[in-house]
Amino acid sequence: MGNRRLESQVAIITGGANGIGKATVKRFLEEGAKVVIGDFDEKAGAELVNELNSENVLFVQVDVSDQESVQQMVEKVINQFGTVDILINNAGITRDATLTKMTEANFQDVLNVNINGVFNCTQEVAAHMIEKGKGKIITSSSVSGIYGNFGQTNYAASKAAVVGMTKTWAKELGRKGINVNAVAPGFTLTAMVEAMPENVVEKMNAMVPLQRLGTPDDIANAYLFLASDEASYVHGHVLHVDGAITM
Ligand code: NAI
Repeated sequence: MGNRRLESQVAIITGGANGIGKATVKRFLEEGAKVVIGDFDEKAGAELVNELNSENVLFVQVDVSDQESVQQMVEKVINQFGTVDILINNAGITRDATLTKMTEANFQDVLNVNINGVFNCTQEVAAHMIEKGKGKIITSSSVSGIYGNFGQTNYAASKAAVVGMTKTWAKELGRKGINVNAVAPGFTLTAMVEAMPENVVEKMNAMVPLQRLGTPDDIANAYLFLASDEASYVHGHVLHVDGAITM
């Protein structure tokens, strides 16, 4: 296949075993990338590797909130594929509760994965990208981080934090040849949303000017654009992929 947009690029997709990450793994593979599924969920990771059955796919079990685990993942990727060209910081968790009911553990767990995880992966991968003078780093923010969301003090904080981190890295890493951007998905049809009651999902649809929720492919395509050379002058940007719910 000619003109594939990520031909021979090595991409680490954290949280790649499920939901948006899984759709991204498939999309990147179609576009010629060598794809690393970096995920905590060993079972889903193994299933996906089986399904894809490609020498261009590698599953590495990782806990992004653990710096040593991230270092080991990147080492395995370099051993297997020789380099890292693209990092998609997609792993994320929720532990929803309203402010007065939120435990400190609820709060901290979300920050550990959604902020520290992004920090750990980016720091480790950026070191290699700086040496090469080239790379793409894309992080998942969220509508919740842009305009807040009921029951998500922890999650909204974490998703706003990565916007600040993205803009800082755009300033620090631009001169090193590294593009840094974020995607802010709206409510997207993954297990997270499918677990919600039907009437809540209907209300969510009604709030979106496009009158539908996002699909994992909608977000995967935004990651793909930002990871491709087509977006080489897009930098420090937060791309809202949300049917204009935050407009
Ligand atoms: P998901 O729950 O379907 O997938 C998340 C993946 O991250 C899972 O495979 C999980 O095993 C992995 N993961 C969790 N903690 C990890 C850790 N410590 N280390 C490594 N992997 C870990 O979630 P979904 O919906 O696909 O979300 C993907 C990203 O998009 C997340 O960052 C989420 O916050 C964000 N997002 C999702 C929205 C939605 O409506 N689904 C809306 C806005 C943002």
